[in-house]
Amino acid sequence: MNNRLKVGVLISGNGTNLQSLIDAAKQVNFPAEIALVISNNPNAFGLSRASKANIPIQVIDHNTFEDREAFDRAIDTALKKVGCKMICLAGFMRVLSAQFVDSWPMKIINIHPSLLPSFKGINAQKQAIEAGVQISGCSIHFVTSQLDSGPIIAQVAIPVLNGDTPTSLSARILEHENKVYPIALETVVNKLLCLNPSSKSINQSETTDSLLSIY
Ligand code: GRF
Repeated sequence: MNNRLKVGVLISGNGTNLQSLIDAAKQVNFPAEIALVISNNPNAFGLSRASKANIPIQVIDHNTFEDREAFDRAIDTALKKVGCKMICLAGFMRVLSAQFVDSWPMKIINIHPSLLPSFKGINAQKQAIEAGVQISGCSIHFVTSQLDSGPIIAQVAIPVLNGDTPTSLSARILEHENKVYPIALETVVNKLLCLNPSSKSINQSETTDSLLSIY
């Protein structure tokens, strides 16, 4: 597909979700292309995944910045330089400042390993096990300045099994994360491009009805 929407992916680690987006974007009809992968962690394996797919990478190490705002500004500059119109957070372990998030309104999506609004923040799978829930899963949501609280785009529910540990539950949830993230991105981008087919830009007003239920 020509003229696909440019998306930046932010990672910190292994990058299985990034890999699923890379694989999906190889399909001719996928409406988005990954224009840049940014990692705050220089050792993130996801960087190798991106390089292998010939996707530009950039390490923006938060340790080298004076404060969160300066780090976020560097990310913003890098994304805009290559024309990104949307951002996918894929295991990105930094909280973005409200200033950054507000300047990309309804243009940032995140995947989280719980059925939001339950179990926000880190160690969501451990939180689920400790709470004794029988169903958990993953959520893809728009990012707002409130952590893991933006409008939900898609969710997948799976059972928590007897004897599950945070590790076993995480692995089973991750399988579903990898399947649903590309579907959610595709659906959001298609909806946005359908609303605004010519400019490839995304306006906040155009996204108000783009919440959906899929999978
Ligand atoms: C996933 O469980 C994601 O939901 C969470 O961090 C993990 C990242 O996994 N935010 P990967 O790096 O995509 O393999």
